[in-house]
Amino acid sequence: MPQLSAGSLVVFALSLTTVGANSVTFWTLDHNVRTLYFTPSLGSPVTVSSDANTTITFPSEYSGNFYAVKQGASQEVGMLGEVMFNGWKGLTYFDVSAIVNPRDRDNVKQMWPAKSRVPVSGCEVFPCDNAYYQPNDVQTKATKEVNLVTTLGSRSAHQKGV
Ligand SMILES: *[C@@H]1O[C@H](CO)[C@@H](O)[C@H](O)[C@H]1NC(C)=O
Repeated sequence: MPQLSAGSLVVFALSLTTVGANSVTFWTLDHNVRTLYFTPSLGSPVTVSSDANTTITFPSEYSGNFYAVKQGASQEVGMLGEVMFNGWKGLTYFDVSAIVNPRDRDNVKQMWPAKSRVPVSGCEVFPCDNAYYQPNDVQTKATKEVNLVTTLGSRSAHQKGV
């Protein structure tokens, strides 16, 4: 076991704070319970509901997507939330993509950076022109923030300034 000085412990703690954890907070807007599936996997699927927001942390440089399935519904890939943390220029990239399943209209809804709340990807009501419908749509958003919010469900939220 190497000896750690108090100084090196302080540096270690500071670097953890500076790097900050990448995260997405899932905010359920209706009364459905949903399971979130992540690709690549973060371990086991995560169950979320309106009882509380659920914040999921992501490893450095994670690039992947997630979708939500309502309790009792069959598991099929739905509206996708796509994220890339610590990407080009160190930024976080995100978008809501309807390319795989545009029929999924009340699971993953919108994504935005937690602090500034702009830019927003996704729709209050699908379809809209703020999500990917065609592979050549230019919809990917970028932010310096590493904490995102994703809404799920049938109610809208962002415009109400909640
Ligand atoms: C969930 O997060 C949103 C957005 O940050 C916030 O407005 C809302 O109050 C939170 N809900 C709960 C139950 O904490």
